[in-house]
Amino acid sequence: MADGSWYDADIDHVIISEQQIRDKIDELAKQVSTDHTDAVDGILLVCVLKGAVMFMADFARSLGRHGPSTEMEFMAVSSYGQGTTSSGVVRILKDLDRDIAGRHVLVVEDIVDSGLTLSWLMKYLESRSPASVEVVALFRKPDAVKVQVPVRYVGFDIPNEFVVGYGLDFSERYRELPYVGVLKPEVYARS
Ligand code: PRP
Repeated sequence: MADGSWYDADIDHVIISEQQIRDKIDELAKQVSTDHTDAVDGILLVCVLKGAVMFMADFARSLGRHGPSTEMEFMAVSSYGQGTTSSGVVRILKDLDRDIAGRHVLVVEDIVDSGLTLSWLMKYLESRSPASVEVVALFRKPDAVKVQVPVRYVGFDIPNEFVVGYGLDFSERYRELPYVGVLKPEVYARS
């Protein structure tokens, strides 16, 4: 691997490069911008911590170059699950700071896996009477979908492997990798 962080040694192979991520985010931002020319109050972006932080930062800047004004909100939720599997029972750790009634809301997610977190979140946000609620997810694991959630904008469909980087973690590490890679099995085997 070219330049490197110490994490690179733990990565088996890269599945999405930094450049591919950059290009895709620009494409998503253009699409969202085209679809929201009538959003006079702009778009209220709701980032779901922590994994979506990288995507939120890059997506909001790209959207800013293409069109509608944005405001940023952050939510933190905790899914009660078995190990790495979420159960669909969600607890709010950090709620929205403002009223979203009448606003065009776009949930910014890093990954939709089972879809359980998002399914719960959509119901929660819809109960607060926004003008619309849509989702942009940078990654989606199609093999693992248990719940059908309408995700309007999807960046990449990725295989059901142990991936890290660009916000995705393993035990809170690897989030800062600029690319997405598959973790070497011996890394999670030794934990
Ligand atoms: C991840 C991701 C989604 C959720 C998707 O968050 O950011 O919110 O899991 O999984 P699901 O579709 O199976 O519900 P995680 O709980 O790992 O927290 P993090 O973002 O802080 O890493």
